[in-house]
Amino acid sequence: MKRIRIGLIGAGSAARGIHLPGFQLCEGVEVTAVCDRDAKAAEATGVAARFEDYQELLASGVDAVVIASPNHTHAEIVREAAAAGKHILCEKPLALNLEEARGMLEAVEQAGVVHMTAFTYQFTPAVNYLRHLVKSGALGRIRSVRAAYLMALSTHLLGWRSSREFAGSGVLADIGSHLIHLIRFTAGEIAGLTAAQRRFREDPSSDVEDWIAFLARLEEGACGTVEISRICPGRGAGITEEMFIEVYGSEGSGVFSLQDPCGLQVALGEDGRNPERGLTRREVPAEFLKIEGSPREVQAHPPRWGYRYDQAVQFVDSIRKGRAVTPTLHDGVRCQAVMQAALESCETGRWAEVAG
Ligand SMILES: NC(=O)c1ccc[n+]([C@@H]2O[C@H](COP(=O)([O-])OP(=O)(O)OC[C@H]3O[C@@H](n4cnc5c(N)ncnc54)[C@H](O)[C@@H]3O)[C@@H](O)[C@H]2O)c1
Repeated sequence: MKRIRIGLIGAGSAARGIHLPGFQLCEGVEVTAVCDRDAKAAEATGVAARFEDYQELLASGVDAVVIASPNHTHAEIVREAAAAGKHILCEKPLALNLEEARGMLEAVEQAGVVHMTAFTYQFTPAVNYLRHLVKSGALGRIRSVRAAYLMALSTHLLGWRSSREFAGSGVLADIGSHLIHLIRFTAGEIAGLTAAQRRFREDPSSDVEDWIAFLARLEEGACGTVEISRICPGRGAGITEEMFIEVYGSEGSGVFSLQDPCGLQVALGEDGRNPERGLTRREVPAEFLKIEGSPREVQAHPPRWGYRYDQAVQFVDSIRKGRAVTPTLHDGVRCQAVMQAALESCETGRWAEVAG
């Protein structure tokens, strides 16, 4: 098995909390270099080779890079890393806007490198079970999707996340990008939408929204209502935050909550047909608890966190097989197109079609 050398660009919370422990589980893989403008952040990773400039890291003999720096840095680093022939795992949201995201996809495709967007929640067991129920037809024809990502206002939103220049937008880019990917992953593509946004925080240093919602039309005909908010006291932040995806079909329903990553509320079969029956909780079947081939011991990590490490496992597997699988940079671009349509609709007050 060929050894894979990984370089981390950006050594903040995502790099240390998700990527580093994920790669540590992978056999034949070593994080050999780290780059951060803040030397202390790089040092805290414990990785031996440390740089302040990502160009030096690219020249240090790594096979692949993880780009976990703030959003405004992603586009340039992806282009340079692709030109240097490195496989790329780039954090979400891919870019500040759709044009930038498309340029990044073009760069990785031209370079022929393996690519992935870090839509980490795709690896949640209950999300994969929900997708399975939809794809297998157990819910019938999907009629509506009701989705929300709700958090309390926390200091997490301060710093680069509160500026359009560095983040692209507020809650939409930061947590809405995850939710949009999961709607696409479980229920289907969003074709058009009408959105509204607000900023409730009285913070002169911020120019981004902390609440945004939209009505959506899915390509297969379903309707969607989506709310993304960081003004919900009691909904937590970090490990306590909440995300829901409710999928209602002609034959049944599936309701996902991030706080129950290994369970799903469902109405299936007779429960779906009989209006007097309610939802019941099902344990996620064993085959969806981790991705195929994952070396992760399901019980070894907290249930709200451990599945995130499968992202690194899948990236490594894609590199070994030379073939990118969802979530790729293509998924990052599709998500960016939905976000762009939402921001456009907020500006114009009209329905916006999602660019193809
Ligand atoms: N997939 C997920 O679940 C998840 C979770 C958290 C964050 N993220 C994403 O990860 C990215 C980073 O977020 P974070 O929470 O780790 O932020 P953070 O602020 O904790 O860390 C970012 C780090 O990048 C460094 N940095 C800034 N500019 C740099 C540059 N040009 N080159 C190298 N390093 C640079 C900063 O010094 C900082 O240490 C963002 O895109 C964010 O949206 C994703």
